Amino acid sequence: MHPLISALLENLNLPADPALAVPLFLGAHGHPRTCAHCAAVAAECRRLGLRFGVDPDLAALSGWLHDISAVWPASQRLSVARELDLPILPAERQHPMLLHQRLSAGLAEQAFGVSDPAVLSAIACHTTLRPNPAPLDLLLFCADKLAWDQPGQPPYLDAMQAALDDSLPAAAAVYLRHLWRQREFLPAVHPLLIEAWEFFGIEE
Ligand SMILES: [Fe+2]
Ligand SMILES: [Fe+2]
Repeated sequence: MHPLISALLENLNLPADPALAVPLFLGAHGHPRTCAHCAAVAAECRRLGLRFGVDPDLAALSGWLHDISAVWPASQRLSVARELDLPILPAERQHPMLLHQRLSAGLAEQAFGVSDPAVLSAIACHTTLRPNPAPLDLLLFCADKLAWDQPGQPPYLDAMQAALDDSLPAAAAVYLRHLWRQREFLPAVHPLLIEAWEFFGIEE
């Protein structure tokens, strides 16, 4: 385990159950709001898993772990990624928030012992999605947007909920369109988002 990660686990004995381990981990590092968000996303993941035939335990696990890299503040994300030997894309250098999805996947693997490639993939693309997404990629991408944790209601929520009556890809397409329409205002556009947009072939 990389020393940067083992340092985060010092004096912590993480239980196997992510519903216990993630609150312990994020609580120890002073991130109660992220923990509440992860709990809400995990609950949404479980609901979507049961609804769409995706393993609800794996779905909830991905929800619990998707934002655990919040323990590294935005100002440290580039240096941590370099330290962990993650290749850094220009868009990620421009807007290091975009690194948090892969940093969370790295932490899930090394600190929480997750080896399931489907869970790690879903965590690693939960902000951008990716072309040809697997069911769990789509599920976590949607759950993260449906479990809105800011005041008010996001503009895409009703359309996303309605699209869920059709399918997970339909709901993901609603949010992709929302994001795509604001691309000129985003601090950076991740290549995976562009590839996901092209893969879905959505009408703008
Ligand atoms: Fe996130
Ligand atoms: Fe999130």
